[in-house]
Amino acid sequence: MNILVVGGGGREHAIIRSLKKNPDVKTIYALPGNGGIAQDAQCHPIAATDIDGIVAFAESHPVDYAVVAPDDPLVLGCVDALEAKGIPCFGPRANAAILEGSKVFAKNLMKKYGIPTAEYEVFDDMDAALDYLDTAPIPTVVKADGLALGKGVIIAQTRDEARAAVRDMMEDHVFGASGDHIVIEEFLTGPEVSVLAFTDGETVKPMVSSMDHKRAGDGDTGLNTGGMGTVAPNPYYTEDMAQVCMDAIFLPTIRAMKAEGRTFRGCLYFGLMLTPTGPKVIEYNCRFGDPETQVVLPLLESDLLTIMKATTEGRLAETDVTFSNKHACCVILASQGYPKSYRKGFEITMTQEAAAHTYVAGAKLEGGKLLTSGGRVTGTTAVADTLEEAIREAYRLSDGVRFENAYRRSDIGQRALLAKS
Ligand code: AMP
Ligand code: GLY
Repeated sequence: MNILVVGGGGREHAIIRSLKKNPDVKTIYALPGNGGIAQDAQCHPIAATDIDGIVAFAESHPVDYAVVAPDDPLVLGCVDALEAKGIPCFGPRANAAILEGSKVFAKNLMKKYGIPTAEYEVFDDMDAALDYLDTAPIPTVVKADGLALGKGVIIAQTRDEARAAVRDMMEDHVFGASGDHIVIEEFLTGPEVSVLAFTDGETVKPMVSSMDHKRAGDGDTGLNTGGMGTVAPNPYYTEDMAQVCMDAIFLPTIRAMKAEGRTFRGCLYFGLMLTPTGPKVIEYNCRFGDPETQVVLPLLESDLLTIMKATTEGRLAETDVTFSNKHACCVILASQGYPKSYRKGFEITMTQEAAAHTYVAGAKLEGGKLLTSGGRVTGTTAVADTLEEAIREAYRLSDGVRFENAYRRSDIGQRALLAKS
């Protein structure tokens, strides 16, 4: 069995390592992959957004199954295009990926089907948005409608900040067409939980919960990043809470998408906030999270490929999805300066032990050397019986990954530890 994986970050590396555990898997092609993924898969320099290039590659290689991991190709219809050529895929079609591709769509769906989320208003006219801000409760949250590389969300502490965010998005188009429509929503408080779930459009099987660390600096300070580290499970997400979320959020979402003629198959990521009035949806992503995947998949005991194919074929109800009771922690090493500008091209070295636990996100191979090529460079994951041990071990292993200009947060998992005590 030969598998095509679209994407080239730490998430894709984690997916590929999990897929390789299945003895039927012969070749994995990664488009574009990266210098580290090249250890585990055949990488080809075709961008994840080059849908025509991906389809042409799939047609000229013996591809039995495709996994489309990132949001952009999903929103652009990569699954639709591959399926049209007879290649079965893991991931939603474009009409379902809109759940991440348009925040306006997601918010309106939640309102229509009574799925708990922050109160909100949608605007496509800047003056109306600015008028609304004269009386909106503060703090408030301003969101660009479309994909904005995870940066289209501004938490405004004052009216002026909120007005500036609206002008940036609607007048200066800092997020391009993503800012033509915006959502202004209620500011929620409470612990955040990421829950990734497999679904075939009927059945939902959530994965172990996780906690991301989005800010660049220790103590949750500094700029928002793609994620500087994760732990799983998330201690705030109790069994009772899981049941509430299943009944009030997960199943209603899957049923709503089906009712809208937009059956969602693949991995649906629920970004939740556990507010004093119950869990609410902060965002949906139409894909595995990164770096959540780097702690969730190492805890998966069932076979990933079997589960993925079951989501494609509508057999998830009868398919085993079991996670270990252990704990995982992932520590990201980033380039100093990320998420703004940073220097690249530094050689990465890893001890053998560290390499076995490290997923590579931003690196290229040049002259046999692995060189940094991105903001987030590596993610090192440890699994252990307790959260404390997983954290200690992830940091110890991460010490074995070296490159100039590296930085990491030193407190991944500390908030989770406090929550447990
Ligand atoms: P997103 O890009 O939608 O994941 O949003 C980025 C981050 O902004 C989230 O992880 C939350 O921490 C925060 N956020 C988004 N919406 C809200 C909200 N309505 N209230 C409070 N925080 C929010
Ligand atoms: N870690 C957040 C995301 O993947 O969107």
